[in-house]
Amino acid sequence: MRKQLTVITGGSSGLGLACASCMAHETTLVLCARGPEKLAEAKKNLEAYGADVILYPLDASDRDAVQDAAAEIAKLGDIVHVIHTAGVSPANTGRDDILRINLMGPIHVVEAFYPILAEGGTCILFGSTAGYALECDESKAPLRTILNEIYEGWREPDFLDRFRSFLCDTVKLPEAHQAGMAYSISKRFVKYFVYANVQRFASRNCRILSVSPGSYLTPMHQALIENSPASAERAMSGIPLKRWGHPYEIGKLVQFLCSKGAGYITGVDILADGGCSYAGSVTQID
Ligand SMILES: NC(=O)c1ccc[n+]([C@@H]2O[C@H](COP(=O)([O-])OP(=O)(O)OC[C@H]3O[C@@H](n4cnc5c(N)ncnc54)[C@H](OP(=O)(O)O)[C@@H]3O)[C@@H](O)[C@H]2O)c1
Repeated sequence: MRKQLTVITGGSSGLGLACASCMAHETTLVLCARGPEKLAEAKKNLEAYGADVILYPLDASDRDAVQDAAAEIAKLGDIVHVIHTAGVSPANTGRDDILRINLMGPIHVVEAFYPILAEGGTCILFGSTAGYALECDESKAPLRTILNEIYEGWREPDFLDRFRSFLCDTVKLPEAHQAGMAYSISKRFVKYFVYANVQRFASRNCRILSVSPGSYLTPMHQALIENSPASAERAMSGIPLKRWGHPYEIGKLVQFLCSKGAGYITGVDILADGGCSYAGSVTQID
């Protein structure tokens, strides 16, 4: 019998590793990330409690590498879930890396895995509360319109250049602020891309959705706390639940979203943010 596979990009750390732990007894796991050492450590830990783990070192921003990986992985079994958590943030890199990895990664992953996803399969992308930063402010409506037009050109060769031009010429952000905005608009794109893919996934009885985490204690978030304690404090003060999220909480959410019980959930973003995104948008009841 062919193996059932769950492909998890970013499966060597943080939220991807938590998803791997939660999915470990459902299918064989195929963990993808750039760094082989972290991947090997994740495999060792997951195998210690019985998981079947295959490693596939991969840079999700490299279109050809993702295409090749998808073709190779498809030979190993039926790909029933693709969980694309791989991403970077201003806490660990700059504007161009963020655009290359967070914007192009989801496109490469969806384009490579959509045609070979098993019928009834699930694809989950990772957004962020940062992807909501432009939504609740009426004064940002013109920016949203420009961005939506840029998003529509995701197949065009100048797609990345148009984002650089948006940051430098349209919003005229100083360089120091461009990484943060690049992160927000790349995560907002993830939601757009899910909405834009829902029909074609449904035509193969597959689902696509995204999860937008708030602040979860992973190496990425730990870097923010260490490098930018004032931002971390500001973030905490805006979280009604007054704590960081535990990666396990995202793992369990993703496990549910991949299950038959979530079979009617598709084409949407699931916000898992401790209440922070919308608490400030209306007057709170005493
Ligand atoms: N933690 C949070 O609070 C939070 C909040 C909102 C959104 N998110 C989103 O959730 C996702 C996971 O974040 P995390 O906190 O789990 O981060 P993390 O602990 O830093 O893990 C990121 C994972 O992605 C991999 N990765 C990074 N760039 C890659 C690339 N180009 N190709 C393949 N793999 C790559 C990393 O491994 P290598 O470096 O070895 O490649 C690592 O396995 C990200 O998309 C992030 O933006 C996280």
